Amino acid sequence: MSPELQKRVQRYGWDKASDYYERCWADQLKPAQELLIEMADLKIGEKVIDIACGTGLVTFRVAEKVGTEGFVLGSDLSDKMIEYSLQYSVHKNQRNTNFQRMDAEELTAEDNYFDASLSALGLMYSPDPFTACKEMNRVIKHGGRAVAAVWGERKNCGWAEIFPIIDARVKSDVCPLFFQLGGGDNLKFTFEQAGFTNIRLKRISTTLYYETAEEASTAVFAGGPVAMAYSRFDEITKQEVHKEYLSSIEQFKNGKGYNIPGEFLVAAGYKNN
Ligand SMILES: C[S@@+](CC[C@H](N)C(=O)[O-])C[C@H]1O[C@@H](n2cnc3c(N)ncnc32)[C@H](O)[C@@H]1O
Repeated sequence: MSPELQKRVQRYGWDKASDYYERCWADQLKPAQELLIEMADLKIGEKVIDIACGTGLVTFRVAEKVGTEGFVLGSDLSDKMIEYSLQYSVHKNQRNTNFQRMDAEELTAEDNYFDASLSALGLMYSPDPFTACKEMNRVIKHGGRAVAAVWGERKNCGWAEIFPIIDARVKSDVCPLFFQLGGGDNLKFTFEQAGFTNIRLKRISTTLYYETAEEASTAVFAGGPVAMAYSRFDEITKQEVHKEYLSSIEQFKNGKGYNIPGEFLVAAGYKNN
């Protein structure tokens, strides 16, 4: 699949997620987002860009950290995610945030402008994460920092069978690089190549809890990387993939719910002075 097509799959797949995203993912992603914010060590008055911001879960937390003297720009490839975040910021009367649709590989932001660039669970959707990391580097000041959280090793993420289940029914992989950054030293290497120094890495295990099979399925099928392919399946194929996915996570069943293991990797680095 060409990089352009991969981006369309992400853009429109994530459009489908905006309405239910927080219900299915806010608790599950919290440990990675908290670690990312802790490693960013934000100060009152700082200017921050949150790349692949989704519904703004990290953006609004960061807005509290930098206070009204500071500012956070949330950016995302999905129009619907940006619309959702903008509406919520108006609802909250949040004055120190703004949201704009942008591709992580091509940020429409000045060089050397922000104190920090952040990206929570977004980099691995980029067909070219090296270019996305270079952009994280370009837009921050010398001495500024970048922090990115990605999913960890494939073998430690209990829901990973979702990709082969979908890929078996379409012409090409829906998200070929998904686990690339989470394995070994790949994220560190990508940060180094993009020009960051003093890189720190933290890997944490987590558990994704879903109360029912329906919730566990909605989380992966309704929006996100497989949603475009899934939405085109007929009803019989939809039922088949649900069944296969639930059987792949059966081992994590706990009563009516599921405790699915996962792993996050978070990297922080500095732009040279
Ligand atoms: C798992 S969500 C993470 C959202 C948010 N950062 C959070 O922690 O809740 C992934 C986000 O990455 C965005 N995304 C995917 N590819 C992207 C790209 N090339 N540039 C910018 N955003 C992208 C999606 O639209 C989606 O909102």
